[in-house]
Amino acid sequence: HVRKAVIAGNWKMHMTCAEARAFAASFRPLIADLPDDREVVLAPPFTAIPTLCRHLAGAGVAIAGQNVHWEESGAYTGMISAPMLLEHGVTHAIVGHSEPRKYFSETDEQINLRARTAQKSGLIPILCVGESDDQREARETERVIHRQVEQGLEGIDPLRLIVAYEPIWAIGTGKTCAAEEANRICGLIRGWVGHPEVVVQYGGSVNPATIDMLMAQSDIDGVLVGGASLDPVSFARIANYQ
Ligand code: G3H
Repeated sequence: HVRKAVIAGNWKMHMTCAEARAFAASFRPLIADLPDDREVVLAPPFTAIPTLCRHLAGAGVAIAGQNVHWEESGAYTGMISAPMLLEHGVTHAIVGHSEPRKYFSETDEQINLRARTAQKSGLIPILCVGESDDQREARETERVIHRQVEQGLEGIDPLRLIVAYEPIWAIGTGKTCAAEEANRICGLIRGWVGHPEVVVQYGGSVNPATIDMLMAQSDIDGVLVGGASLDPVSFARIANYQ
């Protein structure tokens, strides 16, 4: 790989502070000898960020927000801003994940605002894109992702950015996208971003059994892991891919 690999875990709405502390204690020794061609990122729920930062301090794990608002402060009940994340040492922020797109009707315009604000504030956005099952059946995959990339990345610096290709039908279903197909889409995304150095991840049911095959692909620079990142042994195995 020409680009540094980024292995990211997204805990979604899982893990109390006590659980995050236990995870950190088990996880830390398992990633002590990672090769320096890769980076590990974890996105806990907002409430577990201080705990995880403290208990993984010095372990070489970057911490991400699972989302970030586009304003610095204001009347946005329930939201979290970039300065609030930065204060805790957070370095990345996931934006455009299919779950907030679906459950909170986030639009490409809003996602673009989040990504821009994140970058302006010094956070690296992890922009998620991906087609639904219906869109895939209707052979709209490429059109859908092209639009998400184009609109999501307007005004964004491609060098301080991660794009995660997450086919929605593969998320939490145990159906990993075939490695060659994931590689093909990641290559298309790199072309649409228009910069050979952009880091493009694959996400969707990544697990210890599929990681080596995925990481062997030329255009897959890393993974965004949901379920398997909740278990320290599984996530460490993924981070220690061959
Ligand atoms: O952000 C992570 C993805 O949504 C993948 O989740 O690994 O549980 O399928 P999953």
